[in-house]
Amino acid sequence: MAQIGTDITHAKQLLEAGNVVAIPTETVYGLAANALNRDAIVKVFEAKNRPSFDPLIVHVPSKGAALDLADSIPKKAEQLMDAFWPGPLTLVLPKKDVIPDLCTSGLKTVGLRVPNLPLTLELLETLDYPLAAPSANPFGYVSPTTAQHVNDQLGEKLPYILDGGPTTVGLESTIVGFVDDDPIVYRLGGISVEDLESVVGSLKVELNTSSNPKAPGMLKSHYSPSVPLFLGDISKNSAKHQTKKAGVLSFSGIEVDCAHQAVLSKAGNMNEAAANLFRHLRSFEGMELDVILAEEVPDEGLGRAINDRLRRASC
Ligand code: TXA
Ligand code: MG
Repeated sequence: MAQIGTDITHAKQLLEAGNVVAIPTETVYGLAANALNRDAIVKVFEAKNRPSFDPLIVHVPSKGAALDLADSIPKKAEQLMDAFWPGPLTLVLPKKDVIPDLCTSGLKTVGLRVPNLPLTLELLETLDYPLAAPSANPFGYVSPTTAQHVNDQLGEKLPYILDGGPTTVGLESTIVGFVDDDPIVYRLGGISVEDLESVVGSLKVELNTSSNPKAPGMLKSHYSPSVPLFLGDISKNSAKHQTKKAGVLSFSGIEVDCAHQAVLSKAGNMNEAAANLFRHLRSFEGMELDVILAEEVPDEGLGRAINDRLRRASC
């Protein structure tokens, strides 16, 4: 198992030597390596069992550091940086040559983000290179929101997990790219579309779905728990699956006869619901359930991102 701790100097030494280290962010934990070191990047893909065509996000400590890695930055990109960095927003921008093609899976663009967590910002500031980091889960699994989640699944492959406590946002970053300088949302995440629009005006959302398989930013079946998840009216689905051992995941609580119930937010608070989503999905995995029955949350603000993850996790 990996060592878990808060020692930035140790994390730095390991990264300098070309190792992969798990790091916390405000969204989910990442599997980090020197983004300028090809050998280290290969280790990230291997540890996750991630296909080489799925590019990595590059983490930097500041807007200034991001500007050093990107070319021709649209005005709206800078407005979004100023409004939401540090924070759960990844901007896909034309990359400079210093970023290896391996990191971006051959794309001429790079996803850049400044995470909003003091421990990780401090680490990034002490390094003289950015950190490439996908979410620290095996490919196709839900993202980890605690150091222990990372250890459970990838501990044997990692020397160290930097522990920043449970993540506060709990959903991955929102990914925004640009076509002719117009922003397009490729992945719903920790910054809502409404918040983005309050800064740059109305924007397009082009998610990767079965009807739109080409949009970058997310593979369709990216968030699958190992127990089949049925999304919809919980009471109806519960009647259908009566003979099976079920876990129920509701938004703010529901009257249903089931021993294994998890509530995203009793108060109906969307931030709390987002922070709890992956934790609850994982807790169901340890219970030897036959099915998970879940319902959508109100489809607004962060609720859109929560529903997106639930739909991708469902059968
Ligand atoms: O919150 C997050 O974004 C977390 C934390 C660790 O920062 N990271 C994360 O990384 O979720 P990952 O690799 O699990 O998801 C990043 C997504 C991938 O689906 C990838 O396809 C997309 O971002 N992506 C990365 N670079 C891209 C690019 N240049 N163009 C389009 N999509 C890109
Ligand atoms: Mg991921």
